[in-house]
Amino acid sequence: MTDFKTTKKLIATALGQQAADRAIINARLVNVFTSEILPQSTITISDGKIASIGKPAPGALGPKTKIIDAGNDFVLPGYIETHTHIANVFRLHDFCASVLPHGTTTVISEATELGNSLGYKGLSWLLEEAAGLPMEISFTAPCFSPPYPDFESSYPISLDEYEKLLQLEQIAGIGEAYWPDILKADDRTLELLALAKHFNKPVQGHSAGAKEAQLNAFVAAGIASCHEPINPEQALERLRLGLHLMIREGSIRRDLAGVAPVKDLTRENRRMTISTDGVTPSWLLNQGHLDSLGEKAVKLGFDPLTVVQMLTLNAAEAFGRQDIGALTPGRRADILIVPELEKFTPRLVFCRGEISVDNGRLSHAESYVPYKYPPAAYNSLGLEPVSGKTFLYPTTKNDLVKVRAIKPEIGSMVTHAVTATLKVEKGNIAADSDQDIIKYVVFDRYGSKRCGHGFLAGTGIREGAWASTLNWECYQPTVIGCNEVEMAAAFNHLLKMGGGIVVVNKGMVLAELPLPIGGIMGDLNLQEILKREEEIVAALTLIGSKLDNPFFHYQTLAFTGLPFLRLTDKGLFDIRKKSLVPLEIED
Ligand SMILES: [Fe+2]
Repeated sequence: MTDFKTTKKLIATALGQQAADRAIINARLVNVFTSEILPQSTITISDGKIASIGKPAPGALGPKTKIIDAGNDFVLPGYIETHTHIANVFRLHDFCASVLPHGTTTVISEATELGNSLGYKGLSWLLEEAAGLPMEISFTAPCFSPPYPDFESSYPISLDEYEKLLQLEQIAGIGEAYWPDILKADDRTLELLALAKHFNKPVQGHSAGAKEAQLNAFVAAGIASCHEPINPEQALERLRLGLHLMIREGSIRRDLAGVAPVKDLTRENRRMTISTDGVTPSWLLNQGHLDSLGEKAVKLGFDPLTVVQMLTLNAAEAFGRQDIGALTPGRRADILIVPELEKFTPRLVFCRGEISVDNGRLSHAESYVPYKYPPAAYNSLGLEPVSGKTFLYPTTKNDLVKVRAIKPEIGSMVTHAVTATLKVEKGNIAADSDQDIIKYVVFDRYGSKRCGHGFLAGTGIREGAWASTLNWECYQPTVIGCNEVEMAAAFNHLLKMGGGIVVVNKGMVLAELPLPIGGIMGDLNLQEILKREEEIVAALTLIGSKLDNPFFHYQTLAFTGLPFLRLTDKGLFDIRKKSLVPLEIED
């Protein structure tokens, strides 16, 4: 419904027939449409929207107009995050309180985490949580996660539910679609793509590894963007096809330096944005947000005004938004006052026309309160405690058995298939920490009582066990360990927490991070989460783990979106063959 009252007020303010609620004077206004810096500008604001820029009409500034003197500082639109994963470990109110001081006033996030673990109802709660916050947080609906629904399990979202979601203002589009899924072009995929088109919402792409014909087909299917390029050539190929390029620089990968030379291959930057693809609590607490990415882009040779466009107008246009991303009349008054343009960090942040941050301090700290999730969100694991027997691997072999083991690659998220020869003890295949081969079990949390058995090679773990629900992208409870008793203790503690991460040794809990909301989020604040994260890393190191970035790396082991061998609740999955493969290798 058109808001006539506000529109009338904006017209009257722009014409000077009515005084503005607020005005920013003495601004060096950064105009993202013309790439100009306009000195001595005034911005008038009414009902949380911009009424005019430039020279205000006589009468637009009245006795009740609150005047902010920008003191000749730069005045920019608020920054827009185009691809991230925020409902993951920490809560949205904490996230907002962390990013607003860095000038991020709009976030468009994936919602695969709660979407895949709790389905439509999980997404509904998430949207309710976001709606109560002072800044805009919108989401993309998860796209057919997991990547291989026939071989792994997640909470399904029906096409009817997608239709309901896509009608919501808070749903900005469909989340990252993996190119092999899209190119299958099955009826369900085509129906989902058609739904997104019908509601004029973009489908975000994940085209890592695709090129030429595959990339053309991906774009022909209606995909709008990609955040996966890691070099200028890949970036240019996607730009030439009309994709919005979301250059990734965050906790998962840092691609900005690798991709930045693309600016020398094309004069056109208007399809480029910078996004994080997710940040950890430590990143949020220590490294800032989009402001630091802007600063880095300038250091890499991007023109500062181009970077402002990338963080604002280009980002808005990637989602077809005309209400944000620029300082022009009628747009939402998400405004930053920035002393040093090349640093990007604001001293004042306006959200919807109100001051949200003043010199790094949140103005309304009381509004950043946790949303209360219903009890069902806290009881999402449909599993019962188990004994050590669950972690036995029965075999018909007598003495030795050859198995396929999953070997995580250090420094990447790829895993490799290796062969191990293991002993059979009392009819079961035994782990062998001397060979650095340990057990790895993935449970189905949706009531089937199914679990997949596998082995991990090269983790270094020699004792104890790790259990977690924070596993991309199905968020299934997963246990890693050397012996069955420890693994059962870890799993049972995980259930007691309602999800999260736990490390046990000799029956004792060494470290834990409870994430009882869908097994994805919890009630601890950012600082406490960071402390727990450090404790988990220390505990993993204590039991021998030598994987790099272990808090993060263990989350990725069950992720079938990347090569080569993975374990799901249905068994070992060979990514290249796109089929399940047996654990035992026959001679
Ligand atoms: Fe992502």
